[in-house]
Amino acid sequence: HLPELHYNQGELWMEQVSIHELAECYDTPCYVYSQQAILDVYQAYSDSFAAIDHQICYAVKANSNLAVLGVLATAGAGFDIVSRGELMRVLAAGGQADKVVFSGVGKTKSDIEYALTQGIGCFNVESISELTLINEVATQLDKRAPISLRVNPDVDAKTHPYISTGLKDNKFGIAHEEAVAVYEKAAALSHIDIVGIDCHIGSQLTEVEPFIAALDKVIELVHSLREKGIELRHIDLGGGLGVRYIDESPVSIHDFAQALLPKLTELGLPVFFEPGRSMVANAGILLTRVDVLKPTAHKNFAIVDAAMNDLIRPALYQAEMAVIPMTLPSEGIDTDDTQPWDIVGAICETGDFLAKDRLLSLATGDVLAITGAGAYGFTMSSNYNSRPRASEVMVAGSHHQLIRKRETTEALYADEILWQNAK
Ligand code: LLP
Repeated sequence: HLPELHYNQGELWMEQVSIHELAECYDTPCYVYSQQAILDVYQAYSDSFAAIDHQICYAVKANSNLAVLGVLATAGAGFDIVSRGELMRVLAAGGQADKVVFSGVGKTKSDIEYALTQGIGCFNVESISELTLINEVATQLDKRAPISLRVNPDVDAKTHPYISTGLKDNKFGIAHEEAVAVYEKAAALSHIDIVGIDCHIGSQLTEVEPFIAALDKVIELVHSLREKGIELRHIDLGGGLGVRYIDESPVSIHDFAQALLPKLTELGLPVFFEPGRSMVANAGILLTRVDVLKPTAHKNFAIVDAAMNDLIRPALYQAEMAVIPMTLPSEGIDTDDTQPWDIVGAICETGDFLAKDRLLSLATGDVLAITGAGAYGFTMSSNYNSRPRASEVMVAGSHHQLIRKRETTEALYADEILWQNAK
């Protein structure tokens, strides 16, 4: 997968730390992230777009651990957020508010107040009612709110329907045909500063064509707006670049940039991106231990200590993620009992699987790594079945550090209150 994740004499390592040591030290289930892998991707974006003025606003929803945000903030990243909570995290991690863009279809009054007070860079506005609300709040606070409109370019991102966002049928953005009229409305509002235009068409895109199609539509709008006397200061192309989980061949960051640069250079506006998955997916693994082996007449089940509450992508999107052993089987001896296994959790749902039909040689107590788990892994985890959430660890060189404690079971119900019968 990555240079940061490799086998050395049959043992899995991340950077210069053996996974065996991590499993001993932090127990399982545990998310582990390579700091170098995150920085490598950030650098690849920066280098690939070096020819033009650009800002990388990492999409916090993919992985919002403070340590991850802190590393990116130090590297110079901006952030794409979708809630007050995400903005609080960014600030707590040392991120700069003026490099933050605020996306999302349902921003509340309190979200907007907080973001304006902190001085965020731009609201990506998704409806007229949101625009009106932002203007009202800005008026009350006696501030000017910087905005972009998120336009829905109606292009097919050719990805899983649940993570496709740029189609007319989707709830996101303002229809391309209505965009100019809404910009004119915005221009007439007292406390709104129009600064840009934004789109985001979906996630896990492997081809560059949908991005180009969206860019063409956005550029067309930039020109129409110029004719109306509305000058923009940036264009934001959202996130969405896919990654390799097993055998996908997503366009590389370099080739993605090469395909977009001619048009962006000609346009002459600074460009923003909001990458989430591509920044962190392959920097992370989920370590899990085999608790029970249950071969049956039809199928072999390996029941592991991680479950759909820890990693919901396979259950929710039929996502296929690679499962690799911490220790490779020794040729001949162990490889003889290589069999297809379904890797499942202990939750009472048939949908609770992490992978199906994987050829592995397994014994109880073995540690497995699910790769590609750095994005939309921990952030989508839950406490279903009263399962405490996993710990998180970051590796840098030969160092490793706990970046989130394993939740305690008591914490799961600490905020609950027993019913008191009326006297
Ligand atoms: N910007 C906006 C406005 C977004 O809605 C998203 C993701 C991103 C940027 C980042 O997109 P990325 O670069 O990560 O593709 N939970 C799903 C993915 C949901 C994506 C939601 N929006 C999954 O695990 O596949």
